[in-house]
Amino acid sequence: RVHSLARVEMTDPLTTKQKVKECLNPFKLSTQDLNSVLERLLKEMEKGLKKKTHDSATVKMLPTYVRHTPDGTETGDFLALDLGGTNFRVLLVKVNADGKSTVKLESEICAIPQEIMEGTGEELFNHIADCLAQFLDSRNIKDKKLPLGFTFSFPCKQIDLDKSVLIRWTKGFQCSGVVGKDVVQLLIEAIQRRGDFDIGSVAVVNDTVGTMMSCGYKDPECQIGLIIGTGTNACYMEELQNVELVEGTEGLMCINMEWGAFGDDGVLDEYRTKFDKEVDAQSVNQGKQIFEKMISGMYMGEIVRLILIDLAKENVLFNGMVPAALQMKNSFETRHISEIEADTNSLAEAHKILTSLGLEPSDDDCELVRSVCSAVSTRSADLCAAALTAVSNRIRQNRDVDCLKITVGVDGTVYRKHPKKTHFHNSSLAPQCDVTFMLSEDGSGKGAALVAAVVQNKNMCS
Ligand code: GLC
Repeated sequence: RVHSLARVEMTDPLTTKQKVKECLNPFKLSTQDLNSVLERLLKEMEKGLKKKTHDSATVKMLPTYVRHTPDGTETGDFLALDLGGTNFRVLLVKVNADGKSTVKLESEICAIPQEIMEGTGEELFNHIADCLAQFLDSRNIKDKKLPLGFTFSFPCKQIDLDKSVLIRWTKGFQCSGVVGKDVVQLLIEAIQRRGDFDIGSVAVVNDTVGTMMSCGYKDPECQIGLIIGTGTNACYMEELQNVELVEGTEGLMCINMEWGAFGDDGVLDEYRTKFDKEVDAQSVNQGKQIFEKMISGMYMGEIVRLILIDLAKENVLFNGMVPAALQMKNSFETRHISEIEADTNSLAEAHKILTSLGLEPSDDDCELVRSVCSAVSTRSADLCAAALTAVSNRIRQNRDVDCLKITVGVDGTVYRKHPKKTHFHNSSLAPQCDVTFMLSEDGSGKGAALVAAVVQNKNMCS
């Protein structure tokens, strides 16, 4: 104590302010910076779409084979699997139940243990098939052979709606023997290994696509899907003639952008702080998903934790002591950021969280921690807004209109819990786009079922 008091006395308030500024200023992006980010993303999008540059492009702009948002004629019972966030879910979705355009669902959450996330692909798909069997058993529908929508939220080279090859894992998943394989085939094989039930036709979608589809069911202007959760990504309806990887020139196709990989070639380096670089260095996919690592839930808490350690070392936080609790990776969780920020009138939440981490924070500490949280979460929302502007502006130009009215279907805990949702749409960046956000409820699961319905319709017609 004597030691830390002595240190506090030595800290001059002016240098304290300067140190904080030095640390947090790099997180502030000006309108000019954001415009430059969006211009760069537009270039990357172009590269991803063009045949010649696709292979070397970081933002992959993957065709999804989804050509329409739902038209409301889809009907029937569907299963949906949702893999790719913190939880794995099985859902039963009834489309057009009672002849009305409603989607009803029941769902169950199965955890994916860490050892399965880092185990073999066979173990992962066995686990998925086991959860599915349990779900069917509990509802007495094992003999029904229902069509299935599979939300698989990783970058995939889709060959058709029912054939999707994993390009690489993201978000901490590392199962062996899956990259380069068709995940529908791996799922079917796991179900066949059990041999006690069967499924109908399968459609694979990314969570962004599921989210767009589920909102598109209610609002035909929904042509963008956005996820800001464990990871971040977006999809949108592109003119097919611009999608050089797919034959055809008529109509639209939904593109899974995989914008999380924006910056993997260094184009965002000038905006990355030393904390971003450290988070990347400690991750299982170094040098990959650079944009995602500046924005999404899997990494924001870590960025804050590293800043807090730095400020403590600089002697402007926690009496100059680096608390043991904060030295543990992931000890400061992303949800703590929104909890602290949501408490706008008091420091109680910050105090509670820091105390639960074994600290004895002063009011000044709590105040500063809140500023750190705000700097990190504001940058996350600003970057997202810039990227979204790139997308909506591109759509506006594609459609050749002066002003585009568009709805963004959105999901993900970071967005849901963000105290300043208005930050996600920066109208000064896109004055000619009238953007509405629509929060999707269980979107990725429902959306996958809707795509499965489209596949079933197609099979019935052919
Ligand atoms: C990661 C995945 C992407 C997904 C996003 C949100 O970026 O690569 O497919 O959409 O996370 O879950």
